[in-house]
Amino acid sequence: MTTISPAPAPKTQHSNDPLHLIDVDHVQFYVGNAKQAAFFYAHCFGFQIEQVADLTTGMRDAAHYLLTQGNIRFILTSGLSPEHPSNMEVAMFGDGVKDIAFTVFDAEKAWERAVRNGAQSAYEPRTYRDQHGTVTMAGIRTFGRVCHSFVSRTGAYELTTVKQGGTFKPKFRKLEGGGAACAPAVGCGPQSGISSVLAINEQNRRNPCGLRYVDHLVGNVEMGKMNHWVRFYENVLEFSMFKHFDDKDISTEYSALMSKVMSSGNNLIKIPINEPAEGKKKSQVQEYLDWHCNTPGVQHLALRTDDELQSIAALRARGVDFLTLPDAYYDQVWNRVNGTLKSHGHPEVKEDHRRIHDLGILVDADDEGYLLQLFTKPLQDRPTLFFEIICRRGSQSFGKGNFKALFEALELEQERRGNL
Ligand code: FE2
Repeated sequence: MTTISPAPAPKTQHSNDPLHLIDVDHVQFYVGNAKQAAFFYAHCFGFQIEQVADLTTGMRDAAHYLLTQGNIRFILTSGLSPEHPSNMEVAMFGDGVKDIAFTVFDAEKAWERAVRNGAQSAYEPRTYRDQHGTVTMAGIRTFGRVCHSFVSRTGAYELTTVKQGGTFKPKFRKLEGGGAACAPAVGCGPQSGISSVLAINEQNRRNPCGLRYVDHLVGNVEMGKMNHWVRFYENVLEFSMFKHFDDKDISTEYSALMSKVMSSGNNLIKIPINEPAEGKKKSQVQEYLDWHCNTPGVQHLALRTDDELQSIAALRARGVDFLTLPDAYYDQVWNRVNGTLKSHGHPEVKEDHRRIHDLGILVDADDEGYLLQLFTKPLQDRPTLFFEIICRRGSQSFGKGNFKALFEALELEQERRGNL
């Protein structure tokens, strides 16, 4: 069994800044069938299906599944009636990311500050409470269908306790560990579905994929709107610009995009914002928008690992589909990457070069070090959300040296879909 280093320690020191982000509390997906999606992410990506809030726990409008791995928490949500907002959004956009939620010291104060800074409210502060503690949440809208919730927690619902297996929120129930939830009297026999969850959770514990936390997430917005959303993150969430790339950096013969990377003050999270740029053929960002009701949304989540080769080997063995680059990529890559590292006084890429090639992993270097990365194909039938699996060895960049080869590979996929 591989040992992975713990997720970054949360910054628990109290801050007077209401927009001090303590952690990525969770990422919520709206999906067509949360029960089935939970098994997809568990089987293919090694997540634990840890807790559920559904009809059996007193929820009447929606079912929510908490999936965890390292310091990553996904909430998969499906509405139980046609009127539920998640069902309406799934009809428009397909499965995808609805909310990137941040843990803060005081959700109401964070929300008030963001609204005073110019944010549009998604929902007003609300507190879920029981005898064990409270979870207060309030949300603001960001690009397109996406929102940011602020979450503050007390008592047994503190995030440090949740990370150790504590209940996520009132009305959530753990799906593993036996005890009352699995006693035959409450219907948790082999037919209930609980035992299959226990089996996959146990299998994933024995065969981890090594994913630790959300490194960055990328928003796709309409042409001409990138700077609007850059100002939003600067003004509303008090982020700053980390890097920017124009269409000269990110273009092929046929298609292009522009990107600016926004970063929270404490570097907890980076959010690159992409917009399409004019090219001979359709930008990948425009393809996303075309299949997302011309509405901005999250294009990819980058999940961080400490061991790219182990993670990619594990994910490939589970059947995850990754973008394939032509063999010619590897004719150039070692000269390029190791040359850059040498010129900045860094040691060469330490991972086995042959295995990197065999696993189809991409490598890039800059003045600070190198990174290993690989991108999945879309996670649903629409060419919208995908994941990146990333390992950083000093580099804090995004793989600029891979952009051209990558976008040519993406164009092949676009062409296969009839979308170029
Ligand atoms: Fe990325």
